[in-house]
Amino acid sequence: MSNTVSKKDNKNNIDKRNELDYIFRPHSIAVIGASRQRGKIGREIIHNIIQYGFNGKIFPVNPSAEEVNSIKCYPSVLDIPDPIDLAIIIVPREKVFNVIDECHKKGIKGLLIITAGFKEIGEKGAVYEKQLKEKLEEYKMRMIGPNCMGIINTEETVRLNATFAGETPLAGNIGFISQSGALGVAILSLSRAINLGFSMFASIGNKTNISSNDLLEYLENDDRTKAILLYLEDFGNPVKFTQIARRLSKKKPILAVKAGRTLAGARAASSHTGSMTSLDIAADALFDQCGVLRASSIDELFDFALAFTSQPMIKGDRICILTNAGGPAIMATDALVSLGLKMATLSPHVVEYLRSILPDEASLRNPVDMIAGATENEFSLALKAILEDPNVDGVIVMDVPPIMQNPVAIANAIAEVAKNYDKPVLGCFMGVEHIIKELQKKQITSIPLYSFPESPAKALAAMVKYHKLITKDRGEIKTFDVKKDNVQKILDDAFKAKIKILAQNKAEEILKSYGVPFAPSYLVKSLEDCIFKAREIGYPVVIKAISSTQTHKSDWGGVIVDIRNDGELIDAYQNMYKKINEINIKDFDGILVQKMLKGGKEIVIGMSYDRTFGPLLMVGLGGIYVETIKDVSFRIHPITNVDAMEMIQSLKAYPILLGVRGEPPVDIDYLAEILQRFSQLIGDFCCIKEIDINPFILTSDRKNSMAIDARIVLGD
Ligand code: COA
Repeated sequence: MSNTVSKKDNKNNIDKRNELDYIFRPHSIAVIGASRQRGKIGREIIHNIIQYGFNGKIFPVNPSAEEVNSIKCYPSVLDIPDPIDLAIIIVPREKVFNVIDECHKKGIKGLLIITAGFKEIGEKGAVYEKQLKEKLEEYKMRMIGPNCMGIINTEETVRLNATFAGETPLAGNIGFISQSGALGVAILSLSRAINLGFSMFASIGNKTNISSNDLLEYLENDDRTKAILLYLEDFGNPVKFTQIARRLSKKKPILAVKAGRTLAGARAASSHTGSMTSLDIAADALFDQCGVLRASSIDELFDFALAFTSQPMIKGDRICILTNAGGPAIMATDALVSLGLKMATLSPHVVEYLRSILPDEASLRNPVDMIAGATENEFSLALKAILEDPNVDGVIVMDVPPIMQNPVAIANAIAEVAKNYDKPVLGCFMGVEHIIKELQKKQITSIPLYSFPESPAKALAAMVKYHKLITKDRGEIKTFDVKKDNVQKILDDAFKAKIKILAQNKAEEILKSYGVPFAPSYLVKSLEDCIFKAREIGYPVVIKAISSTQTHKSDWGGVIVDIRNDGELIDAYQNMYKKINEINIKDFDGILVQKMLKGGKEIVIGMSYDRTFGPLLMVGLGGIYVETIKDVSFRIHPITNVDAMEMIQSLKAYPILLGVRGEPPVDIDYLAEILQRFSQLIGDFCCIKEIDINPFILTSDRKNSMAIDARIVLGD
């Protein structure tokens, strides 16, 4: 019957709702486990749904109750006469599966499971979670949770507060996805005090069925959502997250707090949600690559959100401070400059104008200090002139109110001016909460107000970073002409021989096949051969003991450098053999005689496999100091040409690479190309779990830039 047109189709009455609309925009809700007892979660959720003015039908379900909250109660969801879009499940875990079966029979498409006791409690819970996942897939139902705090949609036509949070959320334009329920409650109550409003909120719990990635895509298409806030403890599928975030962050800013910065924090996060938390460094790399702004704390997340959701996007990095007090303005200046922003140089005509309207004692250089007695009118006129100055991209207005001044009126006057300009204006006022309450009472839309000078400075820095992220070219993933078959053969042989760590000459062959040049070298087994090859390469040379089990060769004398003639080579060779016998090296393959490279900079290039993010690429200052100095930067594979260049530019040693005190700059473009070739190799052979090229000697001339040592570890 697939060709027949249904009545529904004929009437052009197809249900066009997105599958998540059944959860976030339901027409009817069943609350299963609706308790008669105040204080129980099942009762408080019903209370919140009613209290917030849900615009649909609500049906409590509880076999032991006639009514809950004065609404008729049903013994089972199957007894409800109306169709149901969303079932909220708040029954003990052992009853959850039966309830889901009934919801399926009822034809319900959306579930919100508050009940805890799944993978977050350990192995036994993980078994239930797996069953839950499979059941939902079989029934084709979509579900938020389990172990979550609920969802909110403030849209006037919906008005759904299906949480057990004590505070009613303010309506606004932030979509907020939180992996922690408790933090969600805290944030919702705090946000009211600072005037932060939400379009939607979801506490996603264990993300068994609906992930943060699904919700990002849902919010992407929600017109009311102008910015997205994320509180994450782990990434479900980082590759998918990267794809979505790269696209979405161009349309709407994504501001994120990723918990688990420290190893102890990561362990806590792992036992908290049962998630596998990964290297924090990888999270930073991932955020940078896909244009997500990372806040270091919830406070900072709020500070950013206030600015991003209420102000026009900044278009440059020149900031002006307008103040009535010198001290806080100096603090703000320090913060701005240390965050890499510039203090705007006001145009002469603007300075002239400010001189004409402000008292003689006022300071007219940026920061513009109007002194303590500045009036509403002076704030307004000065701000207007500054905003009109083409040399200014954004403004911080600071007010420390003396007794005779009304800060509410000043805040209002500033907001009135700011709304006419396409530049962000952020306020820093004393006693912010009182001012916000007064403005809320009068229903005045204000500019964002902060208590401390560093906060607006950080928010502006985040805006500038976002502007750069969305306007910059993100580059392309290049494909180079390489010898893939060579590598495949070496790896096949290694697998056959059950070798996990490849000998240096094999590692070298692999990397050379992908265009990473190595200093000329030969593996020799006798002194005569060694002398012969050294002469062929040309002195000076280096000799190295080659073994697949011994790393850090220089620590035990396995590397001797700068050998200038046959005599020195004979001594070095004999000394090295003595060492090899002394420490009884296993898997000794022979001695590598290699061209000694001079000059240039030592670079380390590496890849390690992160269990959450996959291959993680690294570049940094190399040689024997790499572990001490730790000047390295990371990106998640695959990298674009822009990513490669940014990896290099973000090194502290970058200015050294550009050449100091008359040194020639090294060939940075070549290093970027090597990184991309490296990324291509990693993409082609997922069995490679670790690579280290240390050092790669980078000179000003690519012909003389070569790797000296490399190590490759294979996975299973
Ligand atoms: N259908 C509908 N209602 C049912 C039912 C069923 N099959 N079986 C029981 N109920 C009713 C009960 O009669 C009870 O109503 P009552 O209080 O009027 O008697 C209500 O559902 C709740 O059941 P109860 O056994 O009292 O459970 P509870 O309220 O103590 O706990 C949970 C239930 C879900 C809250 C609890 O198991 C839980 O998971 N708590 C943790 C939740 C959490 O922290 N989530 C994460 C937040 S971030």
